[in-house]
Amino acid sequence: MKRISVILALLVFVQISSSAQAKNPVYKDKNAPIESRIKDLVSKMNLEEKILQLNQYTAGMNTNVNNIGEQTKSIPAGIGSLIYFSTGPELRNAIQKKAMEESRLGIPILFGYDVIHGFRTIYPISLAQACSWNPALVTEAAAVAGKEANLAGLDWTFSPMIDVARDPRWGRVAEGYGEDPYTNAVFGVATVKGYQGKNLSDPFSIAACLKHFVGYSESEGGRDYHYSDISMQSLWETYLPPFEACVKAGAATLMSSFNDISGIPGSANPYTLTEVLKKRWKHDGFVLSDWDAIDQLMDQGVASDRKEAGYKAFMAGVEMDMTDNIYFQNLKELVAEKKIPMAKIDDAVSRILRVKFRLGLFDEPYTTVVGESSRFLQPESKAVAQKLAAESMVLLKNNEKTLPLTSSVQQIALIGPMAADKQDLLGAWSAHGNENDVESISEGITKEFGNVARINSAKGCDFDGYDESGFAEALSVARKSDVVLICLGEKRGWSGENASRSTIALPAIQEKLVVELLKAKKPIVLILSNGRPLELVRLEPLADAIVEMWQPGLCGGSALAGILSGRINPSGKLAITFPLTSGQIPIYYNMRQSARPTSGKYQDIPTLPMYWLGHGLSYTTFDFGDLKLSASKIKKTGKLTVEVEVSNTGTVAGSETVLWYINDPACSISRPMKELKYFEKKELAAGAKTTYKFEIDPNRDLSYTDATGKRFLEAGEFDVIVNNKKVKFEVTE
Ligand code: NOJ
Repeated sequence: MKRISVILALLVFVQISSSAQAKNPVYKDKNAPIESRIKDLVSKMNLEEKILQLNQYTAGMNTNVNNIGEQTKSIPAGIGSLIYFSTGPELRNAIQKKAMEESRLGIPILFGYDVIHGFRTIYPISLAQACSWNPALVTEAAAVAGKEANLAGLDWTFSPMIDVARDPRWGRVAEGYGEDPYTNAVFGVATVKGYQGKNLSDPFSIAACLKHFVGYSESEGGRDYHYSDISMQSLWETYLPPFEACVKAGAATLMSSFNDISGIPGSANPYTLTEVLKKRWKHDGFVLSDWDAIDQLMDQGVASDRKEAGYKAFMAGVEMDMTDNIYFQNLKELVAEKKIPMAKIDDAVSRILRVKFRLGLFDEPYTTVVGESSRFLQPESKAVAQKLAAESMVLLKNNEKTLPLTSSVQQIALIGPMAADKQDLLGAWSAHGNENDVESISEGITKEFGNVARINSAKGCDFDGYDESGFAEALSVARKSDVVLICLGEKRGWSGENASRSTIALPAIQEKLVVELLKAKKPIVLILSNGRPLELVRLEPLADAIVEMWQPGLCGGSALAGILSGRINPSGKLAITFPLTSGQIPIYYNMRQSARPTSGKYQDIPTLPMYWLGHGLSYTTFDFGDLKLSASKIKKTGKLTVEVEVSNTGTVAGSETVLWYINDPACSISRPMKELKYFEKKELAAGAKTTYKFEIDPNRDLSYTDATGKRFLEAGEFDVIVNNKKVKFEVTE
């Protein structure tokens, strides 16, 4: 009798607790560990629900001309993710309500969008950001972008792009951090930190998405979407390191690339997506395909139909299908045919749910609604945009101290198609940036000089075409002025996605305008706004000073004007080499040595570029002492410090960035002529001295990877290089 009542009591207990569990399942318990929540939820999901999680559709009005493909009209409540084109949280909350209340298990949707260099407060393009050599400032900018995006209803951005880009004909050089793997790694990590904060669940944190995994920038001839022939050696040495660094820094997701990696597309590549990313680097978030990238596997010739394309992408390790609906249409059948194991589906769903749980979406699925005026364009956000614009501009040339302009300049000629332009200063991928928020060059200059000089304006010509009818007015404006500011450059659509150019020269009409204005015999300051390095071989000799302002976003006008007046001392340095002519491409600072270093030059043009990575002038002068080593010989397990004393020998304060390079002159494999390993930027008052230090960790800074990703550190001689100073040291067993 006693035993029967114990059994009955147990049964009642089991029933009560299972109905309590049903009402309050583990996956809804915010105090339960995330892994238990995922396990519990996946165990409750049926195959259809799982497959829906692996798909991304769109919501709102898509204005991106390159995002072409099948659009799904109605959004299922159980969809995994949406690209969210709207600027307000209201639509998101309405869609999310449907997901939470109408999907059987109440799984929140992940809302993503391309927030690349700002959401509404637009910062300089990423390539410009890298020229600031100020990762802490870039983190601040990404945090603002993340906050604005989050308040608009987003949980996720498809950024940063960390494709090491060595071909400036490729329009997407604008979106990354230049030609160097280390620079891409540092700024990639800085950006991830800004978006994701300390914890993904912190208020305003959004998830980052590293792209494009991997090697997209190597598209042949700079033609976007084209084949890329990448050796395993350069994959490991050049293209993977920024991704590895950002994965280690906790980046939640990655986007698979359009290109082939020596015949295997990035979106169907089991080696990069599974072997490297998931197995070796242990990434536990998920991979999203690029737009239509799975469907395109057919164009790339590795799948005969959509089903095979879906099978290949999924089995290679792409967990979420961006918009082409292939997973939705085919995965169920592939599971039924036992081609795709259920365990693989569960793993993919778990990865997506993990990011949703980490973001806190199950516990806070909705966005707090605040008015637009407190959502965007806050003064402190614009202050960051202003500082970053100023620090990213590069003074390329300054003959006879043409700049800063002195008080003897009473009349300023402001000429060129970029002078009054607003839209193009936003740059490519400017999210919800609005040209009405942009400060033009002309507005910045009027604010800075309006009280002290007369500003005479003329457009002169358009960005392209053949119309020279504005030349005469421009020349007469130049003649009556003391200095001529000529504002040239690229329209925003000339760089970014699907914006390749066969030459990186500006259209002839712009060059002709400068030649015409020479007749005025006044000092010429060239102001350039562009999304890629330019061919300046004909323009450079005509200008007394050149300022590269890039595409600076909202606050470029006053940042530039501050540089022209001397209120701001320029401190940017190039993060990408400017070839002399397009025919030199590819040319980058970390090339390997030629077999005959003194021969093999071009017969028709010089072999050196116009400006190497690292070039950038200041209004002050910095003297560099000798490089001092803490020891001239160290063991492989040892540590070594190199120092250089830098003095500001000019009359104004300025910031100097020291770029530390390593070279291994003799190794089992040939190594780049020099490799950037560390950099540091510091401000020095006029007359001040400071010491810059680089602590060399042999395993990190002197080793090399082979074509399988294995690292080797060899004993022998190495050089450490700063500017034109070099010192040798030896590493012993
Ligand atoms: C295609 C681009 O390659 C990618 O960078 C972007 O994130 C997606 N479209 C979504 O807009």
